[in-house]
Amino acid sequence: MFLLNLALLGVAAAIPLSTNASRESPIPVEYYGAGLPAGIKSFSAAGWKDATYGPSRGGQSKCVSGILEVQAGTTHNAKLSPDMIPQNQTALTGMIVSTFTPPMKMPTPEFTTVQSIFKIGASLCGPADASSPPATVELLTHGTGFDRFYWDFAAGYSYVDAAVAAGHSRPPRPLIVQTPIQLEIAHSLISLLRNGSISSTKFSKVIAVGHSFGSGIVQALNVHYPTLVDASILTGFGINSTAATTLGFDLGGNPTIASLADSQRFGDLPLGYMVPASAQGNQIQFFSLPGFDPSILTQVNAQKGTQAFGELFSPMIGGPVPNNYTSPVAVINGQQDFPYCMGNCSFPTDQAAAVKGVLYQGLDQGKFDSHLVPNAGHGWNLHYAAESGYEWIQKFLRDQGL
Ligand SMILES: *[C@@H]1O[C@H](CO)[C@@H](O)[C@H](O)[C@H]1NC(C)=O
Ligand SMILES: *[C@@H]1O[C@H](CO)[C@@H](O)[C@H](O)[C@H]1NC(C)=O
Ligand SMILES: *[C@@H]1O[C@H](CO)[C@@H](O)[C@H](O)[C@H]1NC(C)=O
Ligand SMILES: *[C@@H]1O[C@H](CO)[C@@H](O)[C@H](O)[C@H]1NC(C)=O
Ligand SMILES: *[C@@H]1O[C@H](CO)[C@@H](O)[C@H](O)[C@H]1NC(C)=O
Repeated sequence: MFLLNLALLGVAAAIPLSTNASRESPIPVEYYGAGLPAGIKSFSAAGWKDATYGPSRGGQSKCVSGILEVQAGTTHNAKLSPDMIPQNQTALTGMIVSTFTPPMKMPTPEFTTVQSIFKIGASLCGPADASSPPATVELLTHGTGFDRFYWDFAAGYSYVDAAVAAGHSRPPRPLIVQTPIQLEIAHSLISLLRNGSISSTKFSKVIAVGHSFGSGIVQALNVHYPTLVDASILTGFGINSTAATTLGFDLGGNPTIASLADSQRFGDLPLGYMVPASAQGNQIQFFSLPGFDPSILTQVNAQKGTQAFGELFSPMIGGPVPNNYTSPVAVINGQQDFPYCMGNCSFPTDQAAAVKGVLYQGLDQGKFDSHLVPNAGHGWNLHYAAESGYEWIQKFLRDQGL
């Protein structure tokens, strides 16, 4: 299998990121935390809290999972008032409708400073048969509505296994979960990965991989810290977010107060966290028929992640990169992506390819590529074609000498 070849090439360790580890989907006991077979050398637990060891969900990698404490601060979070958070479901639905009714009513950008030590739920995964740790790490950031297991969902749907990588985490205060602070958390994490603070390993190459909101964070990293990463992989991403920021996508998910939608998993979360009400909401936002296994949709709904109120009202901090960004970039979308392509990424022209001319204009053409994963929606990682997408990404990185 190509995954093993990649591991032998010494390609990667990957980090999926997420922000309140205790709220993540339950981790099946046979996977993380089950312990590794004797004789398998694992990453060191240095720098981790509550470290556990185990194979990835995909089954092909070995991982250390736990909490990374990351210091980060920003002066550019939007100042959001707790009064903005709807106090009941009718009020939330009404607010979503009125916010996205044109002209969009985003709050006026008054900024506030956030400075804290964030507890990031993460997994660092590497090749199961490696005798020495790889020099390259991929930092994987997920989108809203998912947790870090977006990247390692199940056997056959594990980018972690395809890349063999590490993880991202949910702060307790829904209003501060905004792009500006997440950008700084990612920045700090990359410093920690490079300077040996995590698992006593100094990674010499860092590849940032995002999905959707996570791709927005990677894009912001490239704008604000153009010399930070060695390559960027933007999945579920585009330049026309009309559908993402208008009623279609947001109403499609039927956002519901998380603690009411699933009191068992989210009962003690504050009001500012939302989840799609049903599997149908997930399907409208992330899936495209007939490209997926309905049982995966059922699992996604059972394990759905939250969207924080702050994410909905994050200031936009992406945009075109400066000319001193020179690392390779690839954009990979499901052909039927809804939020960035209204369901057809070839219309009117290839929407993944179009990112180059708008956001990476100064980058050598040879360092940019794009791909549309056939028969797949925004969450192409959860479709039958997922592994063909992983294969495309790994080939892109190989071709770029990474
Ligand atoms: C929900 O909140 C709105 C706005 O605060 C209020 O007008 C409405 O009566 C509340 N509805 C319920 C069922 O409590
Ligand atoms: C590594 O980088 C982090 C974040 O910049 C910093 O806090 C830490 O002191 C550094 N550690 C070492 C060993 O250089
Ligand atoms: C963006 O997408 C919307 C919805 O599909 C479309 O109406 C609009 O023309 C697109 N804008 C551009 C600049 O292509
Ligand atoms: C990159 O370019 C921008 C704009 O030209 C400049 O402000 C910034 O200092 C440069 N950054 C680095 C790391 O050279
Ligand atoms: C998507 O758009 C392309 C380009 O206009 C068109 O050729 C194709 O038929 C469209 N696909 C669907 C399913 O409508």
